[in-house]
Amino acid sequence: MKPVKIGVCGLGTVASGTINVLTRNVSEITARTGCEIIIEQVGARRDNPACDTSALNVSRDIFDVVRNPEVEMVVELIGGTSVAKELVEEAIANGKHVVTANKALIAEFGNELFAKAEAKGVTIAYEAAVAGGIPIIKALREGLSANKVEWLAGIINGTGNFILTEMRDKGRDFADVLKEAQELGYAEADPTFDVEGIDAAHKLVILASLAFGMPLQFDKIFTEGISNIAPEDVSYAEELGYRIKHLGIARNTEQGVELRVHPTMIPEKRLIANVDGVMNAVLVKGDAVGPTLYYGAGAGSEPTASAVVADIVDVARQVGAGQQVKVPHMAFNTLQDLPILG
Ligand code: HSE
Repeated sequence: MKPVKIGVCGLGTVASGTINVLTRNVSEITARTGCEIIIEQVGARRDNPACDTSALNVSRDIFDVVRNPEVEMVVELIGGTSVAKELVEEAIANGKHVVTANKALIAEFGNELFAKAEAKGVTIAYEAAVAGGIPIIKALREGLSANKVEWLAGIINGTGNFILTEMRDKGRDFADVLKEAQELGYAEADPTFDVEGIDAAHKLVILASLAFGMPLQFDKIFTEGISNIAPEDVSYAEELGYRIKHLGIARNTEQGVELRVHPTMIPEKRLIANVDGVMNAVLVKGDAVGPTLYYGAGAGSEPTASAVVADIVDVARQVGAGQQVKVPHMAFNTLQDLPILG
């Protein structure tokens, strides 16, 4: 099969991890894809010491990547919703497939971007947008496709879980742990997104759309973060035999869909109460399979890169074989716009 040429936009935590994983695991990845994946170009405003790009074609203008006629697949890893949206729109308009880790972009603009991609016959793959390295998008879309999903619930922000864990285990100060999460590359560029629950809300809306087959409706979700949780709250919960966890919850009821993110008290014996640090976990209840649980690192360079590369492999397998790429963006095309409970 012919090689597939990709262009990487960004050179931050996730992009550097993606390039490093693609380079280090090249033989496994090539064997699994069935063809070579070539990094044709990288677009980044500055270098990153975590990634050696000396052998790569790096442009300081990120838009060069989406305008490069050789690039068949654009890997958008710059984050945010302004430049990233322009970039993805131009990539689609130029007939390129898109892989992205950008949950804000998918949650807020996914409906219109998917429609544009569909019209152009290209795909948008976004496994890395939710729960870092856990393949939860593929689990919902493929592994659980036989099921009516009744509900799902999960710890889907690594930074928030890291803060709550360190407060509980080491009595550390909220601001101090947040600073460490930023240094470790877990937090968003604007960490308000992590601590006010916005990042979790972005992810929940994506999970719900896949689970229940409904359009993305980010504006309808009840959102509360962890910024008001004091050390005493954590220790009182502990005394009572509970752990405070920030959860995203989606339930499909007869009255409509319930979507909320907020801190919860969970009995300490429950599996999900013991998901600590940057780890994420998502519980999904399907009518046929029953309850299932997915666990893994929710943030960080290579765990997130693992999901990005899985999408690159998925799309490259089909492009390399000369097939029309068929990674379904969403399942809502044939389903109804379910009411969201207020
Ligand atoms: N800031 C996010 C988190 C990164 O902490 O979960 C991964 O989406």
